[in-house]
Amino acid sequence: MNHLDPHRHVRGESQYLDDVPEQQGTLFAAVYESPVAHGVLKGLDLSAARRAPGVARILTAQDVPGRNQIGGIVPDEPLLAEGHVHFRGQPVALVLARTERQAHAALRLIQADIELLPVITDPRKAAALGEFIVPPRTFRIGDSTGAFAGCAHVFEGVAESGGQEHLYIETQGAYAFPTELGGVRIISSTQGPTAVQRHCAVVLGLGMHQVEVDVTRLGGGFGGKEDQATPWGCLAALGAYLTRKPVKLVLDRMADMRMTGKRHPYSSDFKIGLDADLKIVAYEVQYYQNAGAAADLSPAVLERTLFHTTNAYHIPNVTATAHSCRTNLPPNTAFRGFGGPQGMFVMESAIVRAAEALGVAPAEIQRRNLLREGDLFPYRQPAELCHAEQAWDVAAERFDLPGLRAEVEAFNAANKLFKKGLSVMPICFGISFTKTFMNQAHALVHIYTDGSVGISTAAVEMGQGVNTKIAQVAARTLGISIHRVKIESTNTTRVANTSPSAASATADLNGQATLLACQRLRERLLRLAGAEYTVDYEGIEIKDEQVLAAGIPAETTWEKLVLLAYVRRVSLSENAHYATPGVHFDASTESGHPFAYHVYGTALTTATVDCLRGTYTIDAVRIAHDFGQSFSPAIDQGQIEGGVVQGIGWMTLEEVSYNQEGRLLSNSLNSYKIPDLYSVPAVLDVHFLDTPGHPRAVLRSKAVGEPPLMYGIGAYFALRNAIRAFRPGAALPLVAPMTPERVLGGLYPEAVAEPAGVAVG
Ligand code: MTE
Ligand code: HPA
Ligand code: MOS
Repeated sequence: MNHLDPHRHVRGESQYLDDVPEQQGTLFAAVYESPVAHGVLKGLDLSAARRAPGVARILTAQDVPGRNQIGGIVPDEPLLAEGHVHFRGQPVALVLARTERQAHAALRLIQADIELLPVITDPRKAAALGEFIVPPRTFRIGDSTGAFAGCAHVFEGVAESGGQEHLYIETQGAYAFPTELGGVRIISSTQGPTAVQRHCAVVLGLGMHQVEVDVTRLGGGFGGKEDQATPWGCLAALGAYLTRKPVKLVLDRMADMRMTGKRHPYSSDFKIGLDADLKIVAYEVQYYQNAGAAADLSPAVLERTLFHTTNAYHIPNVTATAHSCRTNLPPNTAFRGFGGPQGMFVMESAIVRAAEALGVAPAEIQRRNLLREGDLFPYRQPAELCHAEQAWDVAAERFDLPGLRAEVEAFNAANKLFKKGLSVMPICFGISFTKTFMNQAHALVHIYTDGSVGISTAAVEMGQGVNTKIAQVAARTLGISIHRVKIESTNTTRVANTSPSAASATADLNGQATLLACQRLRERLLRLAGAEYTVDYEGIEIKDEQVLAAGIPAETTWEKLVLLAYVRRVSLSENAHYATPGVHFDASTESGHPFAYHVYGTALTTATVDCLRGTYTIDAVRIAHDFGQSFSPAIDQGQIEGGVVQGIGWMTLEEVSYNQEGRLLSNSLNSYKIPDLYSVPAVLDVHFLDTPGHPRAVLRSKAVGEPPLMYGIGAYFALRNAIRAFRPGAALPLVAPMTPERVLGGLYPEAVAEPAGVAVG
């Protein structure tokens, strides 16, 4: 089954927010943002802007009829700045004008009087000042302090990973329309329609039933629109509510890059202890998360870092403490992996530090410590249906790890100015929202009298193929052609109280709800057929649109049966709710069973470094991945390919940098480099492991959205190994991304210094 959308995308037929035909009278909005990262907002001179051509109205915090508050987890984020500004790019005022150009022109006439306050961009400095978003959290199993005393080898170090710009192709935006009875309808580019609805209701002082949010599809989200679509939805809605005119707000690329949060940079201290057989006995880690100026999703991201603190390894004694540090950057947010990659990078760094000091290959330590069935994670969920060793061993055998290693060694022996490096990256990723209550979904299924089917769920299509998967689930369950099935837009009026499309769980949650609804409809139709044709309905099924009794085609078809049901006054609609069974977590003891299941896999990565220039290519990524029983292999393979490349980008090319005044330096595609066609590995080989899947995965096809991003960590260590082939024994810092500049610094430490005065992330 192929993704249903791409041919419409490439023909330009798919509708995105900016393609919605504009209604007459629409006002265009532009955001006046704070020009400084921290200060007291003493005054705002809007007089010249108000007189500018085409300007209809300028809104500030004073115009908010409800509460000026959009914090998702902690109420610490005003929609429009009030009293203080906390980051550069923070929305301060909203200009509404007849054209987009006029709105932007008026921005330049606004003057803010701001008394400057000290700016913090570094999470460790924030921590030293006690600037935390939430109190620190610690996951603990065994007794790490005691265990270190008995270890043959103990190593300590610091690891840093940088931010990452989401760079969804479609920028943030919303289009809001006033509705009768004083409500609003909002077309939003959001992963979380209910979040937009809930916050708009708060901001406007309305009931949620007065706010309708509709999403057809996103041109990418990657976590960046889980919570951070909300401000633009609320601003457009505020404009529409106050002017009673449609209001459209779409950020241009540079505004989007400046104003929105990114992946959280982390700075971490680790300590790892091994016994004489290279078993990891103890691990301690302190994470300093750069949260930015408001909580946003940072506490949840922090929690997932702790859940993935030991990656795919079993370590009996672990103490992991995580700090969410408040800085004067745009609030950082969800990004594919949701804190998991940051935790796993530190774990891999600790293993590599130990391996380099001991003079063994990191793989020696990695393979020996992989999770096995029944091993406890630090949060005390056991590894069940664990495929960590299988993934490693299949990858090593199928892709000939010893042969690859020999090739790299031979190349390095023969070449002086080009060096190759190889790494192995196992992954283990937990599937479920870590907040248990979020693991629920609804599906509303209508069968129309002509036999066509319309399905509404909470799932948002953002390119990951969830609509295709849901249509497949419905078509299979009802026994009909997928061409009869239409997946409707995601709409808060049709499907209420939804979780965002996130945590890789969208197809599982909404697919299971669709499955339930379709099973009930099928059962009802088959009972009717049984009664009508006086056969035992247990023996009846629908296959390829044909009704079969005991395997023999009956005289009725799907179309006829549906029409019969209508005439017999049998309901052709169903609304199902699904809640993942068996998940729970107790934050007071930091233990429980938060995940429905885990996804496993292993990647072998090879890279070549040009040791004169510091430039490099990631040559090949070879992966054995646990898809379970994939029913959309083309889509799932696409998710692996995209995830790997995005992960490689995070670990290598993509460098988010702010100066000490909190100004984004990497503010456009000139200064922020993402992987392009030429930097994608020439070999990207994906092997589907033979695993049974999990009963909680929809049709046993495991979640696939986020896990592959973490294979990208392998690229970092492959490059590190190539540098060490050029300069054996080099003591390299564990700092990501491994940009060509950093590679050069690793090759020639005396000649190339770390850039000064630039905050990582
Ligand atoms: N793939 C595409 N093409 N576009 C996206 O925005 N988002 C990723 C991943 N794959 C994304 C994507 C993220 S962050 C998540 S959580 C999952 O898709 C969400 O979708 P799923 O739950 O259906 O896997
Ligand atoms: N993953 C992704 N998004 C989330 C999560 C999570 O675990 N929790 C809340 N939002
Ligand atoms: Mo994905 S970061 O959970 O949207």
